[in-house]
Amino acid sequence: MKITEENIANADDLSAVDELVSKCERCSLYKTKTKDVTGIGSEKAQVMFIGEAPGKDEDLQGEPFVGRAGQLLTELIQGLGWERKDVYIANVLKHRPPNNRDPLPEEAEMCWPYLKQQIKIIDPKLIVFLGRHAMNRFFPALKISECHGNAFRKDFNGRKQVFLALYHPAVAIYNGNMKKTLEEDFDKIPKILKKINEEGLNNNNDNNKETEQTKLF
Ligand code: URA
Repeated sequence: MKITEENIANADDLSAVDELVSKCERCSLYKTKTKDVTGIGSEKAQVMFIGEAPGKDEDLQGEPFVGRAGQLLTELIQGLGWERKDVYIANVLKHRPPNNRDPLPEEAEMCWPYLKQQIKIIDPKLIVFLGRHAMNRFFPALKISECHGNAFRKDFNGRKQVFLALYHPAVAIYNGNMKKTLEEDFDKIPKILKKINEEGLNNNNDNNKETEQTKLF
């Protein structure tokens, strides 16, 4: 079935997005997928995590971040006193690239309207990128080595949106220094949320002069 951007933009809740992804043939990954990995968590989440693409475990279980990297992400979320169901977790791609190869630009392009619609429906206060691939899908010029752990805000989906980039948990598994940095950056999430709520940083009409790529912390 040819699903158009208009079809996706008309999905008014997450189950409608799931339904479209299950029928999606916008790129060729549907031919090799086992399950759809659209996303998991609360439609009312204040924080949305975005990774790159499902791996083998995710493809088998139909849920993002359930393999080794996912275990670390789950531990980090629990370390804040939350559960996975309190946030929303998604990927740039909804179907697994064969052998975990990097997503092709045309695959990411075809999947992009789904992610934008998920963000529109959830309307998260804070979007957290897990790794540079997710971040560069939104902001191609940013370097994760320079901006990880620093919340910034930009115009997105018609309003001011606060973003935070983190190193990908899969990288942190094999590198103790990266893991420490990831843990330190992760711990900033509640403080960033507090600042967003107290200062109305997602409002278009707030008086805060900090805008494009300004470090908020
Ligand atoms: N890595 C990702 O980027 N996403 C997943 O869902 C799992 C691993």
